Amino acid sequence: MAAASVAAHIVPKQEVVSFVERCMGAVGTPVAHATALAQALMTADYRGHFSHGLNRLDMYVQDIRSGMTVKDGEPTVVNERAGTAFVNGNNLLGPVVSNFCMELAMRKAKDAGIGWVVACGSNHYSIAGYYSLKACDQGLVGMCFTNTSPLVVPTRARKPVLGTNPISVAAPGKESDSFVLDMATSTCALGKVELHDRKGLPIPTSWGVNSAGRESTEPKPVLQGGGLMPLGGSEVTGGYKGYGLAMMVELFCGILSGGAYGPNVRRWKTNDRVANLGQCFVAIDPEAFAPGFQDRMQDMMDCCRNLEPAEGETEVLVAGDPERKHMAMCDAQGGIPYHVNQITHLQDLAKQLEVAPLKEKK
Ligand SMILES: NC(=O)c1ccc[n+]([C@@H]2O[C@H](COP(=O)([O-])OP(=O)(O)OC[C@H]3O[C@@H](n4cnc5c(N)ncnc54)[C@H](O)[C@@H]3O)[C@@H](O)[C@H]2O)c1
Repeated sequence: MAAASVAAHIVPKQEVVSFVERCMGAVGTPVAHATALAQALMTADYRGHFSHGLNRLDMYVQDIRSGMTVKDGEPTVVNERAGTAFVNGNNLLGPVVSNFCMELAMRKAKDAGIGWVVACGSNHYSIAGYYSLKACDQGLVGMCFTNTSPLVVPTRARKPVLGTNPISVAAPGKESDSFVLDMATSTCALGKVELHDRKGLPIPTSWGVNSAGRESTEPKPVLQGGGLMPLGGSEVTGGYKGYGLAMMVELFCGILSGGAYGPNVRRWKTNDRVANLGQCFVAIDPEAFAPGFQDRMQDMMDCCRNLEPAEGETEVLVAGDPERKHMAMCDAQGGIPYHVNQITHLQDLAKQLEVAPLKEKK
């Protein structure tokens, strides 16, 4: 999770949403689709995952502009049973496909106890947690997975064939408390390696390998012919478990959906062909199981948070707490803090698209 910038430029949440709508509207995206994307990107930034918010806006603009992503239409249900559905995303924006799938999964969960929906023909959808949280907000357990471009090198290999394939699980506790695990299955994001390279800094162990498959603390060999390490790092520190989790995500996404999978997913930042991502959305109604789910979930979270912190630490967190703190910080200052370089980049985009610039908080 990115730390908030020190000399931050504060932008109200609603203005972040409006800005995305303006930019996407300028390239012909219908309002409903632009809003779906805008809400997802704003939420990523609000939760502190700046790599997946406004930072990626120009990518979506380009995808719509070039026709690589389809700007209008709706996903279609190809095959459906009581608790499952297979959806074709029809190459629409990722959040449009994903909202459709998660809403379908939630309806099924309320009826059948579980809704397991898998999509092919989708696109990048920002943070996985945005969708699992939709289920959690309705008292359900939500899970969400997506495959992504191959960047991760399997344990003992040299070549990246898996994406950073995120996993998200969100479960309600009491009084709007929740457990929200939302994580990549690589040790770190590619962007972090790029940042270290730009600053001329070495990278920690467990982040990446060179083209020979050997762990490297130099960013360049990782970026040029190498790749990221799975969660856990090398074999000796359990990296094969992250490798297994990335494969599990691929099983639920590209393989179950018949979309692109593993090395067949188009390379990151290329758009020579449609992405055809596979994605998976699950909603589970805890009422289908033992009564008292939320009490026990809350008790488990409280148990962890109330543990005596290790020497030098001040508190024990549960998944979702860092993002909760970030959102509270945004609320206290009346908006989301952006780095000046990010603002400059967005104002350039606004000029290029001839839309009103991003307005900072007065
Ligand atoms: N769409 C895509 O292609 C794609 C690919 C990869 C990642 N992502 C997204 O990127 C975002 C960032 O992923 P990440 O792996 O860098 O996240 P991260 O490492 O910042 O956090 C991972 C999880 O750990 C929890 N956490 C963090 N510190 C904790 C602590 N001290 N104690 C307990 N829990 C703690 C967080 O709440 C979060 O649930 C996610 O939202 C993910 O969905 C998207």
